[in-house]
Amino acid sequence: MKQYQNYIDGKWVDSEKKITIYSPINQEELGNVPAMSQEEVDKAMEAARKALPAWRALSAYERAQYLHRAADILEERKESIGEILAKEVAKGIKASIGEVDRSAHLIHYAAEEGLRVYGASLEGGTYEPAAKTKISLIRREPVGIVLAIAPYNYPVNLSASKIAPALIGGNVVMFKPPTQGSISGLLLAQAFADAGIPAGVFNTITGRGSEIGDYIIEHPEVNFINFTGSTPIGQKVGKLAGIRPIMLELGGKDAAVVLSDADLDHAAKEIVSGAFSYSGQRCTAIKRVLVVNEVADQLAEKLQTEVEKLTVGDPFENKDITPVIDEQSAVFIEGLVQDAQSKGAVELTPYKREKNLIWPTLLDEVTPEMDIAWEEPFGPVLPIIRVSSIEEALELCNQSEYGLQSSIFTKNYPLAFEFASKLEVGTVHINAKTQRGPDNFPFLGIKGSGAGVQGIKYSIEAMTKLKSVVFDIQ
Ligand code: NAP
Ligand code: G3P
Repeated sequence: MKQYQNYIDGKWVDSEKKITIYSPINQEELGNVPAMSQEEVDKAMEAARKALPAWRALSAYERAQYLHRAADILEERKESIGEILAKEVAKGIKASIGEVDRSAHLIHYAAEEGLRVYGASLEGGTYEPAAKTKISLIRREPVGIVLAIAPYNYPVNLSASKIAPALIGGNVVMFKPPTQGSISGLLLAQAFADAGIPAGVFNTITGRGSEIGDYIIEHPEVNFINFTGSTPIGQKVGKLAGIRPIMLELGGKDAAVVLSDADLDHAAKEIVSGAFSYSGQRCTAIKRVLVVNEVADQLAEKLQTEVEKLTVGDPFENKDITPVIDEQSAVFIEGLVQDAQSKGAVELTPYKREKNLIWPTLLDEVTPEMDIAWEEPFGPVLPIIRVSSIEEALELCNQSEYGLQSSIFTKNYPLAFEFASKLEVGTVHINAKTQRGPDNFPFLGIKGSGAGVQGIKYSIEAMTKLKSVVFDIQ
């Protein structure tokens, strides 16, 4: 079986303990990855600290050349990496290759964007007389060692979206891929290694988050924690981070609000795509539909028609619905469906599960008394909640512990913008499904969905700090 290694201080190294990675599609053994010890983490951190001065002393242009080379290599390898990714996280092969391709373009964009990180100069303008002779020269500097921790559902893209902005800003990176997705993450690291990234600038840490997670979060060498994952873990990361800056992209319960004047055919297509892509395992997936009573029957029928078109099965046959990441997730999803059924939800498409393969399930007449109205299934299940007015929809939207994204479907744009201004979320899509991209847009969650702002330019700025150098002009 293939033995994968960590990339530390410019070398590929083993660990005594190993973790075998199996495919959630068919339990195929994909390879072993190291389970790093705390001592090995310490050595990696030392290497990163040692590499930082020379890396930050490079110009952004010089750093950008490494990123462009890594992106080119990633592009060349997108089919082979995509194949592993599809096996590791049961994502459709086309979407898997697309994720790698998207990551290559994101890295190129970050390399370019990093050339335009600007500071400022300020003249003293406050009341005290001495102010008028003061000038501040404000520069952006790297924060230092960035710990990037990524989730399983985008093991390459949600890693590159942290790593590239961190590197171009002059930081060095400790990268912890998701265990289920760690092979894909290590192949991403290999692209940077093969691009000639200087030793110690980019290092990987594999190992179960439940075992090594706290240690790396609390590690004194870490200057910035960039975490994407579930809200419970994110809350723990936030507590352990202390006074260090963090970026948290967490769970979501994105609502699609459908008003009586919406184009229902368009809305149904967008909602089903937004809810069931990658079997609903996207933080920005539409995870509840709030539709006004006047059009609820029509919309439900159109949604059912669209869901019934979805294909189910093998990611290598590009089926729409593929196995979720593990049986534990599948059982959790099943519990939400059973709770809803027991409280009166109506199955418009029949719920069916075979191990971790769940058929797309559309539930109507869902009420706030049901867990699925509030919980994040992270699976191919979509609840329809009927509301009497836009005001009720707004209230239900904002009652959620999450605040990632929402969609609103209406032809009344002034109303849509007014509604958007009242929603407690990071992003509102008008007449479109919720989604993170385009990757240069700000991407953020509030409340239980996170803290900080991603999106290439925003990520670069977040992982730099201001330095004010003040001097007298007289
Ligand atoms: P997760 O279980 O929270 O894991 C995320 C990452 O954190 C993994 O690399 C995991 O390592 C690591 N980890 C686990 N325990 C840790 C600890 N104590 N300390 C430090 N790191 C730890 O999330 P997931 O299952 O991979 O992803 C699904 C969740 O992430 C969903 O809730 C989804 O909504 C959210 N998500 C949010 C966004 C967003 O941009 N807002 C994007 C994608 C996913 P292991 O893999 O070894 O456990
Ligand atoms: O859950 C991952 C999140 O970043 C979704 O990305 O591009 O599928 O909306 P996207």
